[in-house]
Amino acid sequence: MALILLAFSLLILWVVLLGPIYSFIRDDRHLKSFPSPSIAGYSSLWRIYQNFRYKQFQAVHDAHAKFGTHVRIAPNHVSVCAPDAVDQIYGHGANMLKDAWYEGGAGEARTMADTRSKPEHQDKRRRMAHLFAAKSIVQMEALLRDRTQCLFRKVRDAGAAKEALNVRRYFNYFTIDVISAIMFGEHLGCLERGNDLVDAETRDGKVYTTPLIRSLHAGMRLSVPLGYEPDLLPITRQLVKCLPQKPASKGFDDIVYRHVRKVLRRGYSSSELTRSDGYRDFITQFLYDKDGKPTNVPLKEILAETSGMLNAGSDTTSTAITNTIYLLYHPSHATILQRLRADVTPVFAACQDMDDLPSYDKLSSLPYLRACIDETMRLRPSSAFGLPREVPRGGREIAGKFIAGGVSVSVPTFSILRDKTIFSEPDRYFPERWLPEGDGHDDDPRLRKMKKFFVPFSTGPRACIGRNIAYFEMTMVVATVVHWFDFAFRDEDVVKEFRVLERVNANPDELWLYPRVREAVQ
Ligand code: HEM
Repeated sequence: MALILLAFSLLILWVVLLGPIYSFIRDDRHLKSFPSPSIAGYSSLWRIYQNFRYKQFQAVHDAHAKFGTHVRIAPNHVSVCAPDAVDQIYGHGANMLKDAWYEGGAGEARTMADTRSKPEHQDKRRRMAHLFAAKSIVQMEALLRDRTQCLFRKVRDAGAAKEALNVRRYFNYFTIDVISAIMFGEHLGCLERGNDLVDAETRDGKVYTTPLIRSLHAGMRLSVPLGYEPDLLPITRQLVKCLPQKPASKGFDDIVYRHVRKVLRRGYSSSELTRSDGYRDFITQFLYDKDGKPTNVPLKEILAETSGMLNAGSDTTSTAITNTIYLLYHPSHATILQRLRADVTPVFAACQDMDDLPSYDKLSSLPYLRACIDETMRLRPSSAFGLPREVPRGGREIAGKFIAGGVSVSVPTFSILRDKTIFSEPDRYFPERWLPEGDGHDDDPRLRKMKKFFVPFSTGPRACIGRNIAYFEMTMVVATVVHWFDFAFRDEDVVKEFRVLERVNANPDELWLYPRVREAVQ
């Protein structure tokens, strides 16, 4: 056993440190000319360490401030913080595939989000496009309204009891309930219960409850560093089994298994599964075609895709909602909140009572509401670090510098969204920047330029497929909360600095607020 451990340790030392130092000296891919912070040029340990500090995006941002547009952030990775690089790396014509980092989070079967193969991705995206089409999203309105109303009641009850509410968690319960209702046809009841303890099932049929958010985050904590040394995965996957995060992250797989199995046990019956509003859950749509014939998609593929959606569809959106509420209620943004309320209030005026909500159609046409949400995603993007892509054979010129084939490249999302050449006063929360100037047409070149480089959902063939669902959720929740509630911050420290804990997504810290129904609308 001791010999095996020694062999493992020597192998890891070689792959993580000695091998890269050797490659650094040989410099086959001509990367020596790119500056790098600390040991990043010859060891991935720099990035792994920054990820352990929950601050990779910030460390890369600081490195760009010090070294300029092209920075070597790992032995085989150049981060390029330049507007031209966005299209050159992610655009439709770029033909750059996801790099091997995505192996770290991938399971037995590939999902639309983690497959690196272009034909496989195109096939999956084509097969699933209709689930995210405008027509399908309209059919989700009833379930979204139901969850927004439940969230509203929880905030109101906390206000009546004069209790502080951790809104970060409640927004996450909201997004989990919404995405589970979309996926499984029934929500997981997190909002009602006020917790994320949900049923999970092992492959041998043992049912237990486990906290969804903690299991998801535990998995993310492991997948990011593992992906930075993809060649070591056969070994590191075994080693991490000893870490406390591993059983926790297994809980997430068991949650997915439990709820997919429930849909499978239910079987197909159009009368049961098609709601009165015409909505049919995603899993049923994976399993059966529109005439009720089985599609024979293998179970492992359904599990993988469900897991990907439950993850991508809940963590990012709750991050964006939490950040928006934080910024809007921050004492230094009182005039922004006032202006937003002036916009939103007339739409709510037509509602019967407190339990009534305006239609998404009406709320989505409010430009200032959209501006406040977009400005949040610019300043505090849910996905903040550069999404890695591999330069094709032959190499490419990226933002004026040649980078050899096989090298990984990325544009750091957090940093490009603060680029002074695109966004004036980039550190300021200033929703007005998103409104057209002058005659109200949005063909003004300043706005066109900002929109071109507004990449919180990424861009090109691998851009977020769920962005319309995300806007739907964010719009309904932000409008409802802003219209009905005042909030007081429980913790002064949070007013000064709202911490980010970057796992895969740049998650905000806990946010405890005292809600109160606004006197003006009672
Ligand atoms: C504010 C909320 C959201 C943000 C900021 C966001 C951001 C992103 C980003 C940056 C990517 C690209 C990832 C990469 O290249 O590795 C992505 C991909 C993806 N997102 Fe989202 N997302 C959000 C909400 C959602 C929702 C609600 C869903 C599902 C219902 C979803 C499903 C997906 C999927 C399936 C992909 C992979 C697409 C592909 O590779 O073709 N996302 N998202």
